[in-house]
Amino acid sequence: MLLNVENLSVDYGTVPAARNVSFAVGVGEAVGIVGESGSGKSTVLRSIVGLLDASGRIRGGKVCFEGQNLLRMPPNRLRQIRGRDIAVIFQHPELSMDPLQKIEDACYESVRLHRDAATRMEVREKTLAVLSELNFCNAERIAAAYPFELSGGMCQRVTIGMALLNEPRLLLADEPTSALDVHSQLQIVELLLKIKEKYRTSLLFVTHNMGLVGRMADQIGVMLDGQLVEFGTRDEVLLQPMHAYTKALIASVPKMDCSLPPLVKYDRGSGANGEKVWLSDSHWYLRPV
Ligand SMILES: Nc1ncnc2c1ncn2[C@@H]1O[C@H](COP(=O)(O)OP(=O)(O)OP(=O)(O)O)[C@@H](O)[C@H]1O
Ligand SMILES: [Mg+2]
Repeated sequence: MLLNVENLSVDYGTVPAARNVSFAVGVGEAVGIVGESGSGKSTVLRSIVGLLDASGRIRGGKVCFEGQNLLRMPPNRLRQIRGRDIAVIFQHPELSMDPLQKIEDACYESVRLHRDAATRMEVREKTLAVLSELNFCNAERIAAAYPFELSGGMCQRVTIGMALLNEPRLLLADEPTSALDVHSQLQIVELLLKIKEKYRTSLLFVTHNMGLVGRMADQIGVMLDGQLVEFGTRDEVLLQPMHAYTKALIASVPKMDCSLPPLVKYDRGSGANGEKVWLSDSHWYLRPV
């Protein structure tokens, strides 16, 4: 296994945010963690790479990456691994980018942090190659842009590109698509899947979107109140869920194949059966069947 999380427990002051969370991520595997807001998904993800907020405390457990416990690692050693072997993508990409730095300068800095000998020309070439691979037709323009000149979806693709520059073994993504419109979401999902297939990069992502885990994850974990209440292959979790909460989550996904009630035109002021109808400029209402 590439990453092994064992009995991880995290508190914020007196708030227990994660309790005895255990799961593993294999090489080239995508693991998706789902759960409602506040269930502890980001806490688990941030604990893995030492990015917990100052009030967060790890109470116990292990996080082993290629056999080394990241929780016991000195901060400077962990900084070397983070960004190089393990890259992180956040929900609001524009917040994790320096607004005063052009994309290509940020890319250069991110590579130089881990490889002193990298030259500007070499990094520029690689940046342009990665941006082209992320479906930017004008990579040179994007490289020369500041983050505020890009849309949210473009920023997220750029942060994925920056993460890939150091050829990470594991990509952690916290709600990588929830700030984006449906079209950009689809682009990001397809990109992440392409990266996983092409480079055998492992993915660990958290989301509250069941559709996203269904499309992307090989293994799915379900979190509730700081606990991982279910973990298994995609088919096990989606087709034979064990926990009542997982069943409820799956049942809450809107189904596209059910028949919708027909649209009926009511006369202004009265319904088909003489009931009162709410009046508006549009006379079209859904009649329950
Ligand atoms: N910096 C913090 N200080 C105090 N409590 C925090 C902090 N960050 C998170 N918490 C608490 O820890 C619990 C888990 O939060 P976390 O952000 O991990 O949830 P989440 O599953 O990622 O939610 P969301 O889907 O909304 O992002 C919540 O009860 C939250 O209030
Ligand atoms: Mg979160």
